[in-house]
Amino acid sequence: MNYTGSKYKLSTFIKSEIEKVVGQMKDKVFCDLFAGTGAIGRAFKTESKKIIANDIEYYSYVLNQNYIGNHEEIEWREFIDELNSLKGVEGFIYKNYCSGSESGRQYFSDENGKRIDAIRQKIESWKNDRRINENQYFFLLTSLLENADAVANTASVYGAYLKHLKKSAKKTLTLKPAFFGLNDATHEVFNEDANSLINRIKGDVLYLDPPYNARQYGANYHLLNTIAKYDDFTPNGKTGLRTYKRSLYCQKNEVTTVFENLIKNADFKYIFLSYNNEGLMSKSEVEKIMKKYGKYDLATTEYQRFKADKTENRNHKATETLEYLHVLEKS
Ligand SMILES: C[S@@+](CC[C@H](N)C(=O)[O-])C[C@H]1O[C@@H](n2cnc3c(N)ncnc32)[C@H](O)[C@@H]1O
Repeated sequence: MNYTGSKYKLSTFIKSEIEKVVGQMKDKVFCDLFAGTGAIGRAFKTESKKIIANDIEYYSYVLNQNYIGNHEEIEWREFIDELNSLKGVEGFIYKNYCSGSESGRQYFSDENGKRIDAIRQKIESWKNDRRINENQYFFLLTSLLENADAVANTASVYGAYLKHLKKSAKKTLTLKPAFFGLNDATHEVFNEDANSLINRIKGDVLYLDPPYNARQYGANYHLLNTIAKYDDFTPNGKTGLRTYKRSLYCQKNEVTTVFENLIKNADFKYIFLSYNNEGLMSKSEVEKIMKKYGKYDLATTEYQRFKADKTENRNHKATETLEYLHVLEKS
């Protein structure tokens, strides 16, 4: 998934910096507290003792239940095939987010909106009839979220849809299986505010990748939550927004306080923070806070970020960003 702030492309840098500091991960509990797509937890999954993954957004919880929580083989082929052969239905997504229903919105082609509805309803009915277990449920839901996102008619996030269907949005949605890494360990996945969860977990390595600017993930990815939850509500305004959680990490006057509380309350020996030079907290503010709690260090890499142009959906501009990995060994 093309996710804002995803560390997929930086995972080699982050993994090698973490291993330089902590050494072997085999006997260590690794926590990805702002997990998003789960890219960093996935990089450590097969070689750590246990992964704890958490995110405040429900769609992210679904992705992490699959990519991190699932770790043993499951039966999937007959279910993916059956879902792919379903006839579309006019459900919540079609009625509210496709232009054919006269919703005034066009996040998906009519065909794909109806396919999402049919697939989503079938997954829920299989769960209710116990035809699938929880592991299969999260695997199938993740497959739907990933493939619906691939045909979404947006420039990048769900804050707005495009006037005309772009090329990738015209393709028929086909479910491809969302494969996950197999291993023996049992992992834990949470859907909570980081500052509240931190009081109930402990481990060896804590990786932090909070939002770094004012843009709220709950607003930018509202449609992924709507597909994942498939609940009933009245979509709001032009973009069909649902109510969403506002993270204090996106608020300039709150972020240093919540960040310091998190560091203070963390029962982990090593803490790593990904942040960049365009963030709400400056490099020196982060350093000042972390230094209060132990031995501090910093690793830096240059990173080419692609910003979606607001007017032209395909015109992504490359910008150079400095990506920091702040390191703390707690005393
Ligand atoms: C920069 S993204 C993380 C990206 C992730 N490392 C990846 O590679 O996909 C920040 C994440 O923090 C989550 N988030 C924001 N505020 C949070 C909070 N208070 N507690 C937990 N998660 C939060 C967002 O939903 C978002 O997924």
